[in-house]
Amino acid sequence: MANIIKLRVNGVAHEINADPQTSLLSVLRDRLDMTGTKYGCGEAQCGACTVLIDGSPRRSCVTAVGTAANRHITTIEGLDHHGRLHPVQKAFLEEDALQCGYCTPGMILSAVAFLKSNPHPTEQEIAQAMEGNICRCGTYPRIVAAIQRAARKRAEL
Ligand code: FES
Ligand code: FES
Repeated sequence: MANIIKLRVNGVAHEINADPQTSLLSVLRDRLDMTGTKYGCGEAQCGACTVLIDGSPRRSCVTAVGTAANRHITTIEGLDHHGRLHPVQKAFLEEDALQCGYCTPGMILSAVAFLKSNPHPTEQEIAQAMEGNICRCGTYPRIVAAIQRAARKRAEL
């Protein structure tokens, strides 16, 4: 049954008429036209659909939109600051840490949350933290290098 659901996405308030059980991913992509968040597996296994809810990474493919009401949702479209890329976005570009780019929004949002909780990670900690995000192009070494680069510039985070 459809309800009016209040969402706050990247600081902007939206009211959506939707079944609260609809996935947050489909609302972002199909109703709000925010296609940066990707559909991969649909089963919480690949991380392509990762967004931040109140700063924590969540798989939006298995998050019912009703549970995200009135919380702060951040997608890749909202990570820059007045047109300036977030330091993690910059580091991914500087390390060329993407090939097709399909996994990249989810990778970046997972990395942003991880670096907030662990600003001085070891390489192994980065690999562990990111293991739920799958990159079919196999750019893992460059992704780890990008996160290390962003960590070095943590003062900007
Ligand atoms: S699409 Fe959500 S985890 Fe794969
Ligand atoms: S860059 Fe292609 S899936 Fe990661």
